[in-house]
Amino acid sequence: MQKVLKGRSSTFILILFIPFLITGCAGGQLGKQSSKEFRNGMVVSAREEASQVGIDILKKGGNAVDAAVAVQFALAVVYPNAGNLGGGGFMVYRSAKGETNSLDFREKAPAAASRNMYLDSLGQPIVDKSLYGTLAAGVPGSVAGMYEAHQKYGKLKWADLIEPSVLLAQHGFKVTEKQAKELNELHDDFSRLNPLGTALIKEGTWQAGEKMVQAELAQTLIQIRDHGRDGFYQGTVADAVVAEMQRTGGIITKQDLQNYKAIWRKPIIGQYRGYKVITMPPPSSGGIALLQLLGSVEGYPLKKWGHNADSTVQLMVEAERRTYADRAAHLGDPDFYKVPQKHLMESSYLKQRMSNFSWAKATLSSAIGAGVMPPAEHEETTHFSIVDREGNSVSLTTTLNGSYGALVAVKGAGFLLNNEMDDFSVKPGAPNMYGLVGGEANAIQPDKRMLSSMTPAILEKEGDLFMVVGTPGGSTIMTSVFQTILNVIDFDMSMQAAVNAKKFHHQWLPDVVQVEEGALDSVTRVKLESKGYPIKVRGPIGRVDAILKNKWGYYQAGADPRGDDKAVGW
Ligand code: GLY
Repeated sequence: MQKVLKGRSSTFILILFIPFLITGCAGGQLGKQSSKEFRNGMVVSAREEASQVGIDILKKGGNAVDAAVAVQFALAVVYPNAGNLGGGGFMVYRSAKGETNSLDFREKAPAAASRNMYLDSLGQPIVDKSLYGTLAAGVPGSVAGMYEAHQKYGKLKWADLIEPSVLLAQHGFKVTEKQAKELNELHDDFSRLNPLGTALIKEGTWQAGEKMVQAELAQTLIQIRDHGRDGFYQGTVADAVVAEMQRTGGIITKQDLQNYKAIWRKPIIGQYRGYKVITMPPPSSGGIALLQLLGSVEGYPLKKWGHNADSTVQLMVEAERRTYADRAAHLGDPDFYKVPQKHLMESSYLKQRMSNFSWAKATLSSAIGAGVMPPAEHEETTHFSIVDREGNSVSLTTTLNGSYGALVAVKGAGFLLNNEMDDFSVKPGAPNMYGLVGGEANAIQPDKRMLSSMTPAILEKEGDLFMVVGTPGGSTIMTSVFQTILNVIDFDMSMQAAVNAKKFHHQWLPDVVQVEEGALDSVTRVKLESKGYPIKVRGPIGRVDAILKNKWGYYQAGADPRGDDKAVGW
């Protein structure tokens, strides 16, 4: 069982539910333009400052990819919880004409990584070793990813996309109440892991509204602004990363940094009730899982049963159980492991997988696979959705893994390192921090990318853009995106209502249905429990940031009130 640092465990607790917090949302049903709908573009992200940076880029004539690059860098400043330079992510792109692409800028294992590097002499996982400190970090991919995206699709100058973030780092941003609380809780952990100091800690406690200035981070952003990807993977920033590694027992080398490459991959494309779903292929498990989930429930009358009705929940849980069992066995970095991608999404396969499902009682996860694990403790990543004036769209999910990653800010460079190595199967069958298990497909190998759950997705309806969607939430990412899509397509909700709706989650192991408070009414709960579904109420699930295009061509947002998320449109 992995130890959870005190501050981190409360990341998702005490999040106030504030409906209609955002400016760019509409709580009602789809309709023609309202004051909350926009024609020319929309950015929805974890922080208002970042969404504003994105919309400013769109107004200057930048396209959705330009805005995405600017938002990614802005989030690294104003949302250090998960926005990052030292992490990685995935981008799904759809042009206004319907061309699609996806970019993998996932972190990878350093060349010196080895299969058993987090095990003790008895072969047991060493508590915290894959979670905290520099040894937990994979080779960062975000800067290479943004540079690659800009090279291929960008319209504005690179430097103009980075400058707003330089200014935010130099002049400071106002920490929110949630951030102040978490930073204060992490004070001792940050102090221990950053003995030379970091902008994330200060004398006394952080107060909501107080400014955080990040001078070292600003210098790193200036290097990136002026030298592109080389400003990060070479020169003074790379020197600072390697010095941090050498001081603290990490293994990322200059060669690892220089060799890192973002990879364009063919997106996964499937159908659900006539909508085209464009999403991320491995090394994310998210795209395959999303299409497995949608394919497993498509043959059933969800709309007739109703949102979160007992039959709806039962069917979805059984689909989730089988999908996550497949994830554990069959998914890994496709450059190292042959993922049976096509087979996993075939409708005949999904039918066969669901064939032992019984309405009378719950399937036991032990009948599908084995293992025992702790519940998920903290689920940090961040997602943003963008549409520009021409109708090009970007769905981008990016992460440090845990909140504030490895809790190490590189001295002299001011950015946080990820703790993504924990997304590998440290030991086959042993759970990671999300309680997910894996096997050979996701074992650690030098230069391999660790399996992810991130599920950026774009949906089309009759050849036109319909939805841009994604979320953080670790193992709950796929089930949150799944539910958000069903909420709109099957249950006729507006984008904001679909995001706000209470969610539930099952991930095969542990064999329990995790539910947000209020997701199920008491009758539904009793019916499910009587069939053998253990139900556990937990904190918020997901923080979906999404955009929906209505039939009049206006964009409406769903910015998740579980966080400080904000939509800005024009
Ligand atoms: N680090 C969370 C994920 O990639 O799924």
